[in-house]
Amino acid sequence: MTTRTARAAAGPNIALIKYWGNRGDPVLRLAASNSISLTLDGLWTEIRVRFDETLQADSLSVNDQTATGPQLARTSAFLDIVRSRAGLQAHAAVDSQTNFPVGAGIASSAAAFAALALAASHAAGLRLTPPELSRLARRGSGSACRSIYGGFVEWIAGPDDETSQAEPLFPPEHWELIDLVALIGEAHKPVGSTEGHALAGTSPLQDARLAHTPQRLAVCRDALRLRDFARLAAVVELDSNMMHAVMLTSSPPLVYWQPATVAVVDLVSTLRRQGVAVCTTIDAGPSVHCLCAAADAEQVSAALSQVDGVLRVLRASPGAGARLLQAQT
Ligand code: PMV
Repeated sequence: MTTRTARAAAGPNIALIKYWGNRGDPVLRLAASNSISLTLDGLWTEIRVRFDETLQADSLSVNDQTATGPQLARTSAFLDIVRSRAGLQAHAAVDSQTNFPVGAGIASSAAAFAALALAASHAAGLRLTPPELSRLARRGSGSACRSIYGGFVEWIAGPDDETSQAEPLFPPEHWELIDLVALIGEAHKPVGSTEGHALAGTSPLQDARLAHTPQRLAVCRDALRLRDFARLAAVVELDSNMMHAVMLTSSPPLVYWQPATVAVVDLVSTLRRQGVAVCTTIDAGPSVHCLCAAADAEQVSAALSQVDGVLRVLRASPGAGARLLQAQT
């Protein structure tokens, strides 16, 4: 064996009930609670991995730019897990191409590590089942375990590394919700989610948030099952606000919102009062995900584009899970 190559693609996901904070060793990324998300179509990351015994070190290229420092170190640490499972010594060249801005509050790491888990494991000769892939992807980025599956997905936090994995709830075609991402600032976020998770426990609100999470999960599952938009909107906004309340009250505080973030939240509540089926949720960045019914998407998108500070509006629908594009071993 000299070279082994595989290419895989995955979409990001938007959490409806958020993952924020780990238990135990942060390296294992064991979530403090379950979370629920929607895997997105239209936005994607494609990863090509080539293990080659002649390489002197791992390398990473992201959208044709060579990555070094912490980004490369994180990828290498992930490749080490794959290498140790496959009994492989070879270094790897990883090439990542993404059609959406990384680090702006769209779960770019979820798409990247879901695609990397699939491509790297395949290139290394491993043939993992979806639950095994989900657990592997989790080691790169917690939310990546959900992007292994399409549609509506729940990450079962589980007690340990062997059980903490996602499972599908409903397929993409279950409900044609649209995610309009009001993009506010494409710059890389100042405090990434890995650091953010470590701060969650410093907030006096985190315990209260976690104690209430089973209720929000139950309401969310039910609203999805019944395709009840009003119920979903209420629980999704409550959950996002509870996570940001924890962020704002951490030491040091994490403030991801910008003026345009608040302006979009305001606009969306006005639209909802006027009868438009739309709600907001915000990850670890200033951009706002506006979930709406397909029939209302054009109107909502046009309104969002008018908000001062919104750079552009991305549109995504429920999408498929991670898929292998090509393998050569
Ligand atoms: O998977 P991470 O470590 O990038 O954390 C994701 C955190 C949030 O996007 C804010 C919430 C979530 O559940 O996706």
